[in-house]
Amino acid sequence: MDPRLNVIDKRFEKVKRIIAVSGGKGGIGKSLTASVLALILAEQGFQVGLLDLDFCGPSGHVILGIQDVFPVEEKGLVPPVINGISFMSIIYFTGANPAPLRGSEVSNAIIELLAITQWHELDFLIIDMPPGIGDPAMDTIRLIKRVEFLVVTTRSLVALSVMKKELQVLQELGKPVLGVLENMKTSENSAVRDEATMMGASFLGSVDFDLDLENALGDMNKLKRTSFAGQLKEIMARTKLF
Ligand SMILES: Nc1ncnc2c1ncn2[C@@H]1O[C@H](COP(=O)(O)OP(=O)(O)OP(=O)(O)O)[C@@H](O)[C@H]1O
Ligand SMILES: [Mg+2]
Repeated sequence: MDPRLNVIDKRFEKVKRIIAVSGGKGGIGKSLTASVLALILAEQGFQVGLLDLDFCGPSGHVILGIQDVFPVEEKGLVPPVINGISFMSIIYFTGANPAPLRGSEVSNAIIELLAITQWHELDFLIIDMPPGIGDPAMDTIRLIKRVEFLVVTTRSLVALSVMKKELQVLQELGKPVLGVLENMKTSENSAVRDEATMMGASFLGSVDFDLDLENALGDMNKLKRTSFAGQLKEIMARTKLF
């Protein structure tokens, strides 16, 4: 029995809601959605945490322009708070170096990060999930009991086919799915809505492909003013998810 597993539940005791932004397929905007969601919630006055669980391609710090901050040791590690977001990532330990983890090393690293991180009172902890429904997704489900899933996809057939598999796994495991968000929309089309509905999941809405987004990456204030953030905020308000 790994003693760290007993600690993990306690680490989330002061967190009201835990939302994993997932979607199965790579490159569909999970990290961007998770980071901007955290920004929007913090702007609305909520206590927010952002946990980047993508150990191979951590991106939250790049998207939000977080640098030169580190967790503080206090019976575990307390994540630094940047513009109202408590941010935890493997990046504090690896810096610019890659973390080429294999097999059980991934699970071990996830358990370690979850066991050492001391979250203070949070209204929301947003988790940026790596692509795929492999070890990290399964570990997150196994180790974080109260996690709810926000599923992101594009309308591409390729992304939709992976999204369907992910929804199926989540449903089989009885995990709550908040709904499906379409990202990078370029034309009127109901493919995502139709697939989500067919799978028995709520369709939350669509965010357009934002040509100006790249210029806002790394700058929280610019990000908040993007049409991506505006549309996500509208969807959140309309769906009353939070
Ligand atoms: N609506 C959008 N408009 C324009 N660019 C976008 C949009 N959504 C995401 N992007 C861009 O697409 C790229 C991939 O996004 P992101 O890293 O969030 O995807 P991801 O699903 O987290 O990828 P991975 O599976 O590798 O973790 C990034 O450069 C991001 O800025
Ligand atoms: Mg990502």
